[in-house]
Amino acid sequence: MTREILIAPSILAADFARLGEEIAAIDAAGADWIHCDVMDGHFVPNISFGADVIKAIRPVTKKVFGVHLMIAPVDPYLEAFAKAGADVITIHAEAGPHLDRSLQAIRALGKKAGVSLCPATPESAIEYVLDRLDLVLVMTVNPGFGGQSFLESQLEKIARIRGMIGERPIRLEVDGGVTRDNAAAVAAAGADTLVAGSAVFRGGNSADYAVNIAAIRVAAETGRVRKPQDNSAPPMRAGEGVRIR
Ligand code: DX5
Ligand code: ZN
Repeated sequence: MTREILIAPSILAADFARLGEEIAAIDAAGADWIHCDVMDGHFVPNISFGADVIKAIRPVTKKVFGVHLMIAPVDPYLEAFAKAGADVITIHAEAGPHLDRSLQAIRALGKKAGVSLCPATPESAIEYVLDRLDLVLVMTVNPGFGGQSFLESQLEKIARIRGMIGERPIRLEVDGGVTRDNAAAVAAAGADTLVAGSAVFRGGNSADYAVNIAAIRVAAETGRVRKPQDNSAPPMRAGEGVRIR
């Protein structure tokens, strides 16, 4: 199934002193989803913000809020993030003992359920929960910080997960170090939803954000008509190459 490319700016890279204005700016600049990185200083070595901040910024935009929970335990907090206004709640496969149960809990709260895999976690971690998923998030950095370098090793995993998803209505999201320079390879491997923090917020104003988002989107759409193996090949014209979805 071919799904449109979505760009999800990570507000971790925003100016927190002006968080509401920054979200309004990326909304106007063409963001599809708003990516909210929640970190607990336990599952990951950094602390960001929690459900109260998400609740406070929720009225700023009608765009989908993808809430990426890098917290453990996660189950006690799912309801709070649902009530705060999350649309998609993504938890880490590594964060708790009963992934299947946690995913059921997210859907029981009326939200879309996502699972995230750290770079060292194999795709087999989601093999038996695929039908409980609305989104798979492949981390292309070790979670905890923005501004890290993209891990090329994850491209093969993205392609394998694309194959596992098949015709299921599951979005395949990539998060960490995504830029206009690697977005084509990410999309060629099979991703349809691209998170980007520093690559979107570079420049510091709405006009820059619009240019940055458009550049990532164009690169990703170019990548879609390329085979995953052809990551170093020049862009093909529309209609050439192999569509992988
Ligand atoms: C990392 C976060 C990412 C991060 C992306 O733990 O999950 O969403 O903010 O930032 P960049 O695009 O700067 O790597
Ligand atoms: Zn994230």
